[in-house]
Amino acid sequence: MDFKQFFISCIKKHWKHFLPGIITLLIVDIVQLFIPLIIGDTINRLEILDIDFNGLLIRGFILMGVALIMSAMRFLWRYFIILSAFKIGFEMRRDIMKKLYSFPISFFSKNKTGDLMSIVVNDVDAVRFLLGMGMVAAFDMVILAIMALGMMIYYSPSLTLIAMIPAPLIVIILYYFEGPLHKRFLSIQELFGKISVKVKESIEGIALIKLYRLYGIKNDEFSELNKKYKRDSLVVTSIDALYNPIVNFFMMGILGALIYYGGGKVVESSMKLGDFIAFTRYLDIIVWPLMALGWVFSLYQRARSAYERIQGIMMQENNIISGDTKLNSIEKGISLKNVDFSYETGSFKLENINVEFKKSTLTGIAGKIGCGKTTFINLLLRLHDVNSGVIEINGVDIKNYNIKSLRDSIAYVPQEVFLFSDSILNNLRFADENISDEEIKKVLEVSDCNEFVKNLPNGINTVVGERGVSLSGGQKQRLALARALVLKRPFIIMDDCLSAVDSETEKRILENLKEKWHGTTSIVVSHRLSAFFTADNIIVLDNGKVESQGNHQTLKEKSVIYKSMFEKQQIEKELENEL
Ligand SMILES: Nc1ncnc2c1ncn2[C@@H]1O[C@H](COP(=O)(O)OP(=O)(O)OP(=O)(O)O)[C@@H](O)[C@H]1O
Ligand SMILES: [Mg+2]
Repeated sequence: MDFKQFFISCIKKHWKHFLPGIITLLIVDIVQLFIPLIIGDTINRLEILDIDFNGLLIRGFILMGVALIMSAMRFLWRYFIILSAFKIGFEMRRDIMKKLYSFPISFFSKNKTGDLMSIVVNDVDAVRFLLGMGMVAAFDMVILAIMALGMMIYYSPSLTLIAMIPAPLIVIILYYFEGPLHKRFLSIQELFGKISVKVKESIEGIALIKLYRLYGIKNDEFSELNKKYKRDSLVVTSIDALYNPIVNFFMMGILGALIYYGGGKVVESSMKLGDFIAFTRYLDIIVWPLMALGWVFSLYQRARSAYERIQGIMMQENNIISGDTKLNSIEKGISLKNVDFSYETGSFKLENINVEFKKSTLTGIAGKIGCGKTTFINLLLRLHDVNSGVIEINGVDIKNYNIKSLRDSIAYVPQEVFLFSDSILNNLRFADENISDEEIKKVLEVSDCNEFVKNLPNGINTVVGERGVSLSGGQKQRLALARALVLKRPFIIMDDCLSAVDSETEKRILENLKEKWHGTTSIVVSHRLSAFFTADNIIVLDNGKVESQGNHQTLKEKSVIYKSMFEKQQIEKELENEL
């Protein structure tokens, strides 16, 4: 949908608010036109003393009545039109967010958060503003210009012709401003996105910036963007700022000419004084539409650039398509057959993966940093789709399942912990708001959180994160696990989510899982092989390929990688003990 079609569709959809808004606006415009008429006529009558005090009083009251109607109608049009613009802004944000939620994870590695934020916040506002105040001004401008022009012609066609001399010049100016303005607005909006990205990165990484003294570098990058933003904004503002004085200059010049010609007509008695005054008041009225023309024009350019950026997101297709079959339970386990996958960038490949996760077993995934463990897990969650081969759940291709039901069957604890800056209790309730106290106690026990949660200032009601207590890395990881356990899913995937916990605690948690959480099919990714001592099967990945699989004992013998990792970790442990 192009911008004009979008514009029309919005008006059609919200006509119930737009229409009363436009009607009340029209009333304001019409009523406003009576003022010069009344003033002109009164002056004409005063000039020939054809009016008494009563007549003046009535006219005074009429003018007050007109002012009252105008104020009431002004309130109403603002209410109706701004209301519909806010509704459109609300719907646009809702639709963009819905679209964003539907995108695969690869979309977010290509698009930066700050950029997306600026589209959802800033660009939607630019479009909303055009649909609200911009549309009012455009409509007002056209109606007022036509009616005021009509009245001017009624008083004197020849003076109207003189008054309209600058009009073609103004149109030419706008025509030449269009290209540069549109280009600059696009650039301003893109720069705003980049600035948001920088601010977000800098605040999130503030500890590193301070520690590595990156302030200078980061600040230079930020200053560069900020400078460009200032430069482009200045260009736009200068063009904007130039427009009004030019229009004003022309109109004042024309007023000079009109004083000469119009005044001459009054002197010659071919025009009444009151009519001439009324004519100049209409000229005053027509200056506003001419000025508004420039303002609406720049609002339009800004909104059009913003809409192009919004469409950039809305037009993208999600290539991970949900199937129809509902996944109720993982009866027969999951198997990967001849699976190949590569990132779009071609930077990394998973090749010929043939593995099986049997129901109610614990499978470990081991391998060196960057060997593809997280990528492998993401395939099971359908955050990416395989290039060839098949992933089967209960013997059915994973692509046939409804994605929501697939993800509803899996509790996933990602490698990077994310907790909401809210109380511990609310973080757990986020997974299931009806969780009982009994269940809370159990998940905290299994994830080994009981002890430290008890010692927090407000126990389970302690607020964590930005607005509250900062937890240690290991505490955060255990809480994230507890939150995943609340979901009570038949399948749990833990992606190296206990890396900051000591090996004893990790072992204890995994044992808890096996004993107190039996029946669950678990996949545990870990750097620490001690986590796998009790695993039913361990898959060793090496640079995107399965190097070998088996239990701890067999892998110690047959897997070169597992063996060397194990020996290295044994030495580290001995060294630790000696220290
Ligand atoms: N979105 C992506 N686009 C392109 N390449 C990626 C993407 N994500 C990861 N990679 C690359 O794929 C490889 C495997 O990454 P992955 O995160 O799966 O490794 P990992 O085994 O989980 O590592 P770690 O032990 O550090 O968690 C890495 O070389 C990484 O650079
Ligand atoms: Mg990983």
